Amino acid sequence: APIPVPANEPVRDYAPGSPERARIEAELDRQLGMKVEVPLVIGGEKVSTSTTRDMVMPHRHSHVTGVAHQAGEAEVAKALAEAERARGPWAAMPFEDRAAIFLRAARLLEDEFRDKLNAATMLGQSKTVYQAEIDSACELIDFLRFNVHYLEGIYANQPISPSSAVWNRVEYRPLDGFVFAITPFNFTAIAANLPSAPALCGNTVIWKPASTAILSGHYIMELFEAAGLPPGVINFLPGASSVIGAPIMADARLGGVHFTGSTSTFKSLWRQASANLDNYRAYPRLVGETGGKDFVVAHPSAELETLTVALLRGAFEYQGQKCSAASRAYIPDNLWPQLRERLADGLTELGTGDVRDFSNFLGAVIDKHAFADHKAAIDAAKAAIGSGVAEVIGGEYDDSVGYFVRPTIIVATDPNYPSMVEELFGPILTIYVYPEAEFEQTLQLCDESSPYALTGAIFAEDRQAVVTAVEQLRFAAGNFYINDKPTGAVVGQQPFGGGRASGTNDKAGSMWNLIRWLSPRTIKENF
Ligand code: ALA
Repeated sequence: APIPVPANEPVRDYAPGSPERARIEAELDRQLGMKVEVPLVIGGEKVSTSTTRDMVMPHRHSHVTGVAHQAGEAEVAKALAEAERARGPWAAMPFEDRAAIFLRAARLLEDEFRDKLNAATMLGQSKTVYQAEIDSACELIDFLRFNVHYLEGIYANQPISPSSAVWNRVEYRPLDGFVFAITPFNFTAIAANLPSAPALCGNTVIWKPASTAILSGHYIMELFEAAGLPPGVINFLPGASSVIGAPIMADARLGGVHFTGSTSTFKSLWRQASANLDNYRAYPRLVGETGGKDFVVAHPSAELETLTVALLRGAFEYQGQKCSAASRAYIPDNLWPQLRERLADGLTELGTGDVRDFSNFLGAVIDKHAFADHKAAIDAAKAAIGSGVAEVIGGEYDDSVGYFVRPTIIVATDPNYPSMVEELFGPILTIYVYPEAEFEQTLQLCDESSPYALTGAIFAEDRQAVVTAVEQLRFAAGNFYINDKPTGAVVGQQPFGGGRASGTNDKAGSMWNLIRWLSPRTIKENF
């Protein structure tokens, strides 16, 4: 019988006085009171090493949530061996049994693991409770359930013409090698999806989590283990990229790479693949979601309140560290005076601080490097007032307790001012005000001034303007929003991914992504 069709996991609001609020607060206190020692997990075994790394809490950097063991050469070799050892039995397991494990994980996340993973995401990655809930609970549950649903559809699909003379069929094999999953800090759901989607397809995986999101990664491994994932299917390998990357990329059995992170790292993976081409048994699939310079274009007919809310939420939720976050906006001069006032008022209301205080809208940026980059960009914009920049709204930062950068708007007079075209990945929105008669030229500017193409949005009440933008910005974004913020894609509703320098556009949590982890075999049989 078909697996039940999934529905999106409902988002809980953690209202004061609610039972879920009491539970998450207790879990936060529990996790704040302990120091976790995170092992590697290789072939189902918990492995300690001689090198550890402190897991620093971004909003109070004097506090460490624990230490993470770091992989060395020996552990990389062991993980490669275990991924190989587990490959045959896992690939031979019927789809229903593999699916049941990940559906069980989704079920466990509904309750007992929800608070654990949400709290770890809040403390380790400085997400507010709402941002943690939509990410590490809801989006992860959705990835797990919808992947099963889409894969079931792929397996059932035999896209060949019937023949009465021979029996033709397509067998959906996994890849002829293991998958290397390299995951980002900014979404716990993405960090779990990158290893679990190829695993669901029958592949074994070596997973290198971001060094700034190891705590939530540790609980994801606990979740998969509790759900019954056999040893060796997903091998968890925190550690330095410089130690882990090269030997894995050089391994003859590399079947694919599932990556989310920076454009430069993804390009380096392509270069490593190119350098190792003669070593590989099969051409590895390189699937990546990378950088972005996500845009909002407002037409002179745009509705002000919708635009204001979309900019504030789209640019500043999770400190602007969503790959989808609005980071540049093109605003017509007829709307600017009123919009400026609303945005400036809005900024003062967005509390920035410890995520344990649920009234804050922003936590801290992820680490000292991010803080230094954002500070430098804000200082540069302040120094450029009068030459490329008209004003900086907000622009405060303070790293005495945590890595706090207050939401900031840079108003650029030069549409190619650096923060208008280069990725910053923080709570900084750059706005260029254009003459209202120049809407079409502005669309062209938007399309051509950045190498990225992840997300973007058009705001217009005039329907023809919407049509023009949809056409002219056809390749400027993989996820395009009309009168909505460019963040918050929901699995099963807005398949997510971008093109150009933003990635291979293999839409996470969709059939297009899952197909990359399968290597079909065509079988023709005569009787
Ligand atoms: N799915 C995430 C978003 O759209 C990346 O914001």
